[in-house]
Amino acid sequence: MSTNQSWGGRFTEGPREAVAAYTDSQTYDRALYAQDIRASQAHARMLGRQGVITPAEADTLVRGLDAVKAEIEAGNFVWKPELEDVHMNIEARLTELVGDTGKKLHTGRSRNDQVGLTFRLFVADHLEDWRARAAALVQTLVNKADGHQDDILPGCTHLQPAQPVSLAHHLLAYAWMFRRDHERLGDVLGRVRVSPLGAAALAGTTYPLDPQSVAAEVGFPRIYGNSMDAVSDRDFVMESLFAGSCIMAHLSRLCEEIILWANPAFGFVRLSDGYSTGSSIMPQKKNPDVAELMRGKTGRVYGALMGMLTIMKGLPLTYNRDLQEDKEGFLDADRTVSRSLTLMAGMLEELTFDTRRMRAACTRGFLNATELADYLVGKGIPFREAHHITGHAVALAEKEGKGLEDLSLAELRGIDVRIDDGVYAVLDYAAAVRRRETPGGTGPRSVTRQLEDLRGWLAALGA
Ligand code: ARG
Repeated sequence: MSTNQSWGGRFTEGPREAVAAYTDSQTYDRALYAQDIRASQAHARMLGRQGVITPAEADTLVRGLDAVKAEIEAGNFVWKPELEDVHMNIEARLTELVGDTGKKLHTGRSRNDQVGLTFRLFVADHLEDWRARAAALVQTLVNKADGHQDDILPGCTHLQPAQPVSLAHHLLAYAWMFRRDHERLGDVLGRVRVSPLGAAALAGTTYPLDPQSVAAEVGFPRIYGNSMDAVSDRDFVMESLFAGSCIMAHLSRLCEEIILWANPAFGFVRLSDGYSTGSSIMPQKKNPDVAELMRGKTGRVYGALMGMLTIMKGLPLTYNRDLQEDKEGFLDADRTVSRSLTLMAGMLEELTFDTRRMRAACTRGFLNATELADYLVGKGIPFREAHHITGHAVALAEKEGKGLEDLSLAELRGIDVRIDDGVYAVLDYAAAVRRRETPGGTGPRSVTRQLEDLRGWLAALGA
């Protein structure tokens, strides 16, 4: 193979074929073409403003890059593996199109700061996309929850029945998770949007560059503080993959609940046909494959995070080729995170609830035991003692195969004489939910306040 046009000056031979194939990244980093061109155009304009090249040359470069972009988008661009990556493919074609002026684009720049800015632009664009999808999912959860403030189901700890909660409350717990994800992405974006361009290879450059104006042109508020850090920092990838992993953790938890709830033993939800699949052998089956796959794909995103953390470990300053491995993990994670967020919203929209079965499930598992204990506290009994007395009542009910509310007054008074017939109103499951109006609690007025808060947050995003 012949030597590389961009760096082949000192070489007499090109790389071995297997080496070229091993180091080639244009097969996947071509996905970054739009951001690379945006960054290069900003760089070219700055070179023109600073008098490093003439304004006419800057103009030629900017127009030439537009032409390259048009070719890529029309599918006419010929990607050359021997040109290694997206950056060199674009620059080589630019030079073919505009002639020798094309060779001036790389003045005062290195691929090290170039790839940094290109990838930061790419990651920022995709994190914005995740944010929009996360907000849409919060909206779906809010829509789905509203109206279910009085529909109750067993709330669990340890996956054991604990206390009744409203369906709206349960669904909104997830809305808060995805709201946090949205906020986390915003926080991460503040550190993604830092331009490294101007750091050059590692030490800065002798040309009178204006890195801040390049940053401003691509919409980044800040530039690097140290050129060596600038070309080797991939915190923005690690953090983005963590934010993506967190989204997947939340999605995966919701998937798990949907899978459990769709099991006939629960029977709380019915999946729509469009979001489930059948079995090739068991005709009765309706499987929650989308939720299972989403739970499974969470592993890929965690894998990308672990990969990136491992790539960075032990890297000496500054740029090392290891850093090229930052892209495939992110590209794969991006595909998974974005599709999963949107599929979850679609699956939820078509999910139907069996609120009758949810309510019936509340009568199994003594979900009103805390109510009895609190009732006894109301009679002046210290909580620890009330807890103990309630334990006796549960043991009796369990022995008789009943709920606490099915015990006769005589049976209850046999356990503690301070119990009177006012207890039955307290043991009502729906009433247990209605009484929990503490901030963020499951009571219907509290839940309506949550809905208002979440709706206000969504409206502010749109504003
Ligand atoms: N494709 C490379 C990457 O993604 C670009 C930077 C190459 N720099 C270098 N000095 N070889 O990291």
